[in-house]
Formats: sequence, C-alpha cells, structure tokens
Amino acid sequence: MSLKNTADSYGSVAKWFHWGTALLFLFSYCFVYYRQWFTEKETPENWIALQLHLSVGITIGVIVILRIIWRMYNRQPDSEPGSRLEHLAAHIGHMMLYLFIIIMVVTGYVGTGVNTEYFMLFDIPKFENTWLFNVIVTDGLGMTFKEFEKPIDFIHKDIFGAWLMWLLILGHFSAAMYHHFVKKDRTMLKMTRG
Ligand code: HEM
Ligand code: HEM
Repeated sequence: MSLKNTADSYGSVAKWFHWGTALLFLFSYCFVYYRQWFTEKETPENWIALQLHLSVGITIGVIVILRIIWRMYNRQPDSEPGSRLEHLAAHIGHMMLYLFIIIMVVTGYVGTGVNTEYFMLFDIPKFENTWLFNVIVTDGLGMTFKEFEKPIDFIHKDIFGAWLMWLLILGHFSAAMYHHFVKKDRTMLKMTRG
C-alpha cells in the first residue's frame, strides 16, 4: 500500500491520521464523561481522567496540524460519481470536520485553568501562564482569566462538545454508510482497504 494518496485510494499515512483521530476522539469523550459521571471531585481518579482528556485533546491538535500539512502536499483520491451538489456537500463537510477539530482543541486549551501533565510525562503550561495570554486577553481584551474562561468553556462544552461535534460526526458517519450500503461506491473502501 502506498504511503501517499493515489487516484484510487487514500494512502496509509492519511488512513492512519483519519482512523487514529477517530479513535482518539472516542477516548477523549470517554475520559471526560467518565470523569463527570463516575468520579468524585478532588479524587485521584477525577484528576487523572481530566489529565487524560487534556493529553488526548492536545495529541489530536498535533495530529491535525501534521494531517493538514500532509494533505496540502498530497493529491486527493478521485471522487466517486455524483452531482455537483453532492461533491460540494462532501467538500464542505470535510472542511467543517477539520474546522471543528481545531475549534475543540483551541477552546479546550485556552479555556483550561490547569497545566496539562502530558500523559504524566511532562508539563505543558496552561494558556493563562503564556505570553500570548497577556497579549490577547489581558492587554487586548482587558479581561481576567475568569472572565475569558466562561464564554470559551461554553463554546467547548455546551455548544460544540455536547452538540455540534456529535451532529457533524453523525452526519459524516451517515454519509459514509449511505455511500457504502446505498450507493455501493468506493468512498468507504478508499479510506479502508484501498
Ligand atoms: C478534539 C478534542 C476535544 C474534544 C472532542 C473535547 C470534548 C470535550 C467534551 C465533550 C467535554 C465535556 C462537555 C460537557 O461538560 O458536557 C469537554 C470538557 C473539557 N475539556 Fe475538552 N475536548 C477536546 C480537547 C480538549 C483540550 C485540548 C483541552 C485542554 C488542553 C480540553 C479541556 C477540557 C476541560 C478542562 C473540560 C472540562 C472538564 C470537566 O468539567 O469535567 N479539551 N471536552
Ligand atoms: C465514525 C466513523 C467514521 C467513518 C465510517 C468515517 C469514514 C470516512 C470516509 C469513508 C472518508 C473518505 C470520504 C471521501 O473521500 O469522500 C472520511 C474522510 C474524513 N473523515 Fe471520517 N469517518 C469516521 C469518523 C471520523 C471522525 C470521528 C472524524 C473527525 C472528527 C473524521 C474526519 C474526517 C475528515 C476530516 C475526512 C476528510 C479527509 C480528507 O479529505 O482529508 N472522520 N471519513
């Protein structure tokens, strides 16, 4: 299997990025909901589950940067037959997935008031302790962290985390199933067997 994309299929690197991100998304949700539903506040499990959510989230952020760079230097597999509207919808859907991933990672990082103990290996400083926070939030917006954190958390948790991200992934999954089982074309195979 080729590392790079070909006319017929995504290459192995793009497939690893795609399925790796999907799996990390699942972990990220599991850790944060495990923390909220099954742990008591201020217990070691509560802290570890949070830290795993942060570490996985940051990993998704690093992967999405590498993935976008890789995509820019790769051809896309040929599209399956379909109307112009279908192709446009697929393109917009994929761009929205990238955009939503970035929104989740950025709002997650800038709205978190603790350092990330990256898989218990090393510390990544919280946004509040970086020079960028002073430039954008303190000097630019004239806000404290507490004031800034509220709307950002609302976007991360209540708007995107709990709703929009799920809806988009559901739409994406349904489109993949529609191609595979109804249209019976190669869309799904391009991302799996090649
Ligand atoms: C793509 C990556 C991410 C996804 C899908 C995601 C998703 C979520 C979800 C679903 C919630 C809980 C929403 C609720 O309360 O209903 C949440 C909470 C949270 N996220 Fe993320 N997140 C991501 C990345 C990050 C990153 C990179 C950080 C910080 C470095 C972060 C920090 C937090 C924090 C601090 C909470 C609150 C935890 C709690 O109150 O229990 N997230 N996230
Ligand atoms: C739930 C299971 C999933 C299935 C069955 C699935 C299936 C697919 C398929 C078949 C493609 C290729 C579409 C085409 O070439 O027209 C694709 C592309 C894509 N998927 Fe998924 N996917 C899943 C989950 C996810 C998740 C969780 C994310 C991110 C949050 C995601 C993000 C993307 C992106 C960004 C692309 C576009 C790739 C590119 O063109 O660079 N997928 N997916």
